[in-house]
Amino acid sequence: MLILGASSGIGGEVARQLIGMGWTVSVAARRELPLQSLKALAPSRVEYAVVDIMAEDAVSRLQELAERTGGIDLYIHAAGIGSQNRELALPIEESTVSTNAVGFTRAMNWAYHYFERQGGGHIAVISSIAGTKGLGPAPAYSATKAFQANYIEALEQLARQQGHAIRFTDIRPGFVDTPLLGENPTYPMLMSAKSVASSIIKALIREEDVKVIDWRYRILVFLWRLLPRWIWKRMRI
Ligand SMILES: NC(=O)c1ccc[n+]([C@@H]2O[C@H](COP(=O)([O-])OP(=O)(O)OC[C@H]3O[C@@H](n4cnc5c(N)ncnc54)[C@H](OP(=O)(O)O)[C@@H]3O)[C@@H](O)[C@H]2O)c1
Repeated sequence: MLILGASSGIGGEVARQLIGMGWTVSVAARRELPLQSLKALAPSRVEYAVVDIMAEDAVSRLQELAERTGGIDLYIHAAGIGSQNRELALPIEESTVSTNAVGFTRAMNWAYHYFERQGGGHIAVISSIAGTKGLGPAPAYSATKAFQANYIEALEQLARQQGHAIRFTDIRPGFVDTPLLGENPTYPMLMSAKSVASSIIKALIREEDVKVIDWRYRILVFLWRLLPRWIWKRMRI
């Protein structure tokens, strides 16, 4: 299995727990030091590669990493960026779209074709509950998370139509205490990366299609979906 975005936060914690469970794990991200620390946990079962999903060589590096362990049957896409942007600063909007939509599409394209050639596999994406609705404080972030959810829903249909045994899991956590939220985050219903990672691993083992984490966010998402647009646009998030 291979995780892109394993150098911190949710991806890092999923990697750590899977290594602890005895899995052979390949990890990738831009920062090498945290990847080296993961390898140090079980040197014979962990491989890593420095991959920037925005770089030209991203696909060849992912391919080489997957081959180094004799192939993979699970790809987890945990790479992403996000921040609130009420000022609508264009560089933030553009970099969010680049990483979470353009870079994400590149990774999905690689993973889909990899598993197509292999005759099957499992693709998991950490999207977010933020993709449920357009969120005023984070327009590009919420839009790119909706993009990710729709994209893998489309790939799931395509794989079925083309007769490929590729499974998909869309993981949608609420607020998780990771570097993405900044130092000392004060968000409501904040979850630890540890507990979220263990829910993710259970969802992967059960091959769930969509997993909203946790139950409180399942209720919240359900209620958000019921709200008509004229109420939603007046809400203070
Ligand atoms: N924290 C939350 O509240 C929350 C809630 C729902 C969903 N999520 C989603 O969960 C995913 C993981 O986020 P996190 O909260 O764990 O934040 P994080 O700790 O900042 O982790 C983000 C990961 O993405 C990697 N990454 C970023 N840009 C990359 C690039 N261009 N190429 C390759 N890797 C890249 C980072 O590694 P490098 O910097 O080393 O490249 C890091 O490993 C994100 O997609 C996020 O949207 C987070």
